[in-house]
Amino acid sequence: MPQPNAANVKSIKIAIVGAGSVGVTTAYALLLDGLAADIVLIDIDKNRALGEVMDLSHAAHFAQARVRVGDYEDCADAAAVVITAGVNQKPGQTRLDLVKTNYRLFRDVVPRIAQHAPDTILVVATNPVDVLTHAAYHISGFPLERVIGSGTAMDTTRFRHELGKHFGVNPRNVHAIIVGEHGDSQLPVWSLATISGMRLRDYCKAASIEYNESALEACAKRTKEAAYEIIQRKGKTNYGVASVLVSILQPIVTNSDAIMTVSRVGTYGGIEDVALSMPCKLNRHGAYQDVPLLLSESEEAALRRSALSIKEVLTALEG
Ligand code: 2OP
Repeated sequence: MPQPNAANVKSIKIAIVGAGSVGVTTAYALLLDGLAADIVLIDIDKNRALGEVMDLSHAAHFAQARVRVGDYEDCADAAAVVITAGVNQKPGQTRLDLVKTNYRLFRDVVPRIAQHAPDTILVVATNPVDVLTHAAYHISGFPLERVIGSGTAMDTTRFRHELGKHFGVNPRNVHAIIVGEHGDSQLPVWSLATISGMRLRDYCKAASIEYNESALEACAKRTKEAAYEIIQRKGKTNYGVASVLVSILQPIVTNSDAIMTVSRVGTYGGIEDVALSMPCKLNRHGAYQDVPLLLSESEEAALRRSALSIKEVLTALEG
């Protein structure tokens, strides 16, 4: 993938809506990555945002970028606007309660972004990310490719990490993806998982190691449950998701046609008008092209179940 350099990032502006831990960690990761020259942090709590920006600007000193507090008009000409704003699930709150609150917030925030940055690319990180990617698409009126949810890009990263540990190889050399919902109905695509170009069974055979199905299932389970465990221990996740957001912004800024599992509105498993993650090609136009997947029969069925479970939440929200 082409790396950003001073020439191609000097005019790049990225706006981040939400100065909570995901928004701020994303700003910090962006700074370190050198992907943007101008990073704008927008939050309803301007004082808090200013405190974060003051701190970040000392890091910006080493990265030669500008970080500033902004308002929605500062989204103008941004290559992308990352939406991280929203409430987190509290004890006693149902998932649907969380959806309703964040949906209301999106109805306020998305039109303001669209008004000032009609050509930008929306990158949604707020949970439940698939439902809110669907909301952002319909509220903004943007074309499909310009409304992207971080989706299972996070889970795919975690899955590769788990499989890398299991097989003792660098996660970058594991080609395996999680598709569907960024949530409980996600599915690992075992049928297409490879290491060094070999399907996992063939790799095990060639490397004279046991193909241990239950250990592999445990990798998928740990992937699915990682966020729950981290939240239980430290109350939130931020570093992983921020790094994933930067990896989604990278092909947008560098126009490099990377394939990533991100959430987009479409028809999945025969279910129309739903957002979930499948592999897509990303460049400066956004998530502009599906990458066809030859799923096994059971994976197709699991994808349909995942699409249905997201659709149920959408229907309840609209009802
Ligand atoms: C994560 O997976 C909670 O969606 C957040 O880290």
